Amino acid sequence: RPQWRGIIEEYRDRLPVAPGTAPVTLREGGTPLVPAQKLSELTGCDVHLKVEGANPTGSFKDRGMTMAITRAKEEGAQAVICASTGNTSASAAAYAVRAGMVCAVLVPQGKIALGKMGQALVHGAKILQVDGNFDDCLELARGLSDKYPVALVNSVNPVRIEGQKTAAFEIVDMLGDAPDIHVLPVGNAGNITAYWKGYREYHQDGPAARTPRMWGYQASGAAPIVRGEAVKEPSTIATAIRIGNPASWTLAEQARDESGGFIDAVTDRQILRAYRLLAAQEGVFVEPASAASVAGLLQAAEQGRVDTGQRIVCTVTGNGLKDPDWAVAGAPQPIVVPVDADAAAERLGLV
Ligand code: F0G
Repeated sequence: RPQWRGIIEEYRDRLPVAPGTAPVTLREGGTPLVPAQKLSELTGCDVHLKVEGANPTGSFKDRGMTMAITRAKEEGAQAVICASTGNTSASAAAYAVRAGMVCAVLVPQGKIALGKMGQALVHGAKILQVDGNFDDCLELARGLSDKYPVALVNSVNPVRIEGQKTAAFEIVDMLGDAPDIHVLPVGNAGNITAYWKGYREYHQDGPAARTPRMWGYQASGAAPIVRGEAVKEPSTIATAIRIGNPASWTLAEQARDESGGFIDAVTDRQILRAYRLLAAQEGVFVEPASAASVAGLLQAAEQGRVDTGQRIVCTVTGNGLKDPDWAVAGAPQPIVVPVDADAAAERLGLV
């Protein structure tokens, strides 16, 4: 069986790439769609998880980045830049290595998970920590790319959205149609925009008979779309979606309204509960921001907004290893034992 070739080769006819273009790829995409037993039981629905943490750098960003870096290379760029809460920078840094380019990243000081910082560092990116939040970083990145010879690879770059829409294609290809509902976390709002574009295209062109309702969830301390105004000092433990003024705000509202969905908020407490449930009951370790989709689904079910018997896909956007602090915090200390089977068995409660 041939290896999955990455999203550009797998979906070439549906992406804006020239016939002769050689992709810059780490063979991203083709991620697992995992049936979620516990969530199905809790909601009375057929729930699946699209596990985007299985991408090469551990998040969905790789789908957009293969497109953005392929395009930047084709246009002769020698350097790329992005603002990031961590995952975009990790992905940009890795793909820039593949393309032989310099990568600069702007991150909010002290507010990105250690694993993501480690990725950008080990891939050799130039990291600037900005005394501000993500929104400030993005403004600075835009300013730099306007004035200096460096290509912007944030999701305000439309080819990023093109790459990310392939996740919707994969879901339809795997399920045979679109689900009834698609749930995902919302930060800068590029991903909800991308999924909606993908579902719409597959519906227009035949592979899907319908489109899903799009349900987006922001963290309650960083929920500008829900509140209807920018949040000056966004705050949440889910640092990946700690964003107060999303770049794709209007497009996210379009996805919401055209699909008959909604965008709502979940608290950090709900996010952490869903984070633990996913790990302990589904065997899927995600980062806190990713658990916002599942926290949202559970909240909607409790509110009586989920009719039973529906097919639901939750995107879990990033790998739990990126931000393991929350897994360790509050967990019991490991037990120390001598090299002795009887003593170990006793500690395990086997005798
Ligand atoms: N989940 C994770 C793990 C993310 O890293 C992000 C965004 C989102 C969800 C939200 O997606 O922005 O398209 O609405 N992370 C960006 C970054 C902002 O810089 O890595 P979105």
